[in-house]
Amino acid sequence: MFGGVYKGKSVLITGNTGFKGSWLTLWLEQLGAHVTGFSSGLPSKQNHFSLLEQKAETIWGDIRDRNTLTNTILQCKPEIIFHLAAQPLVRHSYEFPTETFETNVMGTMNLLEAVRLCPSVKAVIVVTSDKCYDNTDDSLPFIESDPMGGFDPYSASKGMAELLVSSYRNSFFNTADFGTKHSTLIATVRAGNVIGGGDWGKDRLVPDIMKATSLNETVEIRSPNAIRPWQHVLEPLSGYLLVGQRLLEGDTGSASGWNFGPSEPDHLTVGEVCELLGTHWNLVRCTIAGNQVSFHEAHILKLDCSKAARILGWKPVWDGNTALAKTVDWYRSFYETGSVITVDQLEKYVEMAKEKESVWVN
Ligand SMILES: NC(=O)c1ccc[n+]([C@@H]2O[C@H](COP(=O)([O-])OP(=O)(O)OC[C@H]3O[C@@H](n4cnc5c(N)ncnc54)[C@H](O)[C@@H]3O)[C@@H](O)[C@H]2O)c1
Repeated sequence: MFGGVYKGKSVLITGNTGFKGSWLTLWLEQLGAHVTGFSSGLPSKQNHFSLLEQKAETIWGDIRDRNTLTNTILQCKPEIIFHLAAQPLVRHSYEFPTETFETNVMGTMNLLEAVRLCPSVKAVIVVTSDKCYDNTDDSLPFIESDPMGGFDPYSASKGMAELLVSSYRNSFFNTADFGTKHSTLIATVRAGNVIGGGDWGKDRLVPDIMKATSLNETVEIRSPNAIRPWQHVLEPLSGYLLVGQRLLEGDTGSASGWNFGPSEPDHLTVGEVCELLGTHWNLVRCTIAGNQVSFHEAHILKLDCSKAARILGWKPVWDGNTALAKTVDWYRSFYETGSVITVDQLEKYVEMAKEKESVWVN
């Protein structure tokens, strides 16, 4: 997989204890990488990271603390960094805007400053979000060259992180100077609404429904008509790993921004997601919240992933309904029997990718 580039590689994952970070760590360990994690804590009391048996060492620290982050990177000497650590929640960003900007913007700057001091780093993948774009709520999917923006502090922080990376890439890691003045390639990756087992993040639709269903409770949903690009967590991770492969191989053309989302029909409304979840777990019960949403949220958010398809050959493996079914399987298995089926689901995902002749599997 991924041309074997990760075998024996020293990899740093910031945010390794998080939902996406824990799946990514597991996958990279299976690919033979030596993974070190850097996180400030656990994302929630119940969490996927603690349920998995991982070999990776975790360095506990805050990305807002540039010295600790720099010392970690200088000691660990990674060849590639996946930067996932962030304050990732829109509602929390309204309550704690300065924490959100400090973590998501200045934290990313601290990381890039540390990378400037550490010659071992050949590739950096900065994870931002589909919310980085200036969203005017028309129904057009975003392409990578669309303007950055963000109404709420979270979305703006991700747009700002994109501009920051672009500036550092132009100024200090310019692809025209690669191999002469520096040896580091940097990309940003923008994924949609990610679902899958092991997420207990606050105010996230699918985890909230899974938890409530396990307790035989009804969930109140807000904005049933809002459209989002739903995808299983392994989908963007396959994209991140593919871009990482290209950067490690010295492909300067891959040092740019990339959308990783579902195909067009899998841009579902919140209401459709609830209905489909009910077909996979008949105990799921949702009602529409009576009171209005107290904060602004985009109504329509779609991603155009044709650049990744055209240039990288990347395509989704599981469609939206399969992603929802796998997510339900994970939580049902966890709540009903206590078993964690992450490894099994990763195997099944790779098998399907082989069947579909995904570019990253031989
Ligand atoms: N989950 C989604 O649907 C989604 C969608 C688009 C983008 N993203 C982005 O993907 C990344 C990972 O998201 P997630 O869902 O796994 O989030 P998560 O909340 O599960 O994990 C966040 C991780 O970041 C770490 N972290 C937070 N603040 C930190 C700090 N100041 N210093 C060091 N570590 C810190 C936490 O310890 C944790 O490991 C984030 O950048 C997020 O914005 C997520």
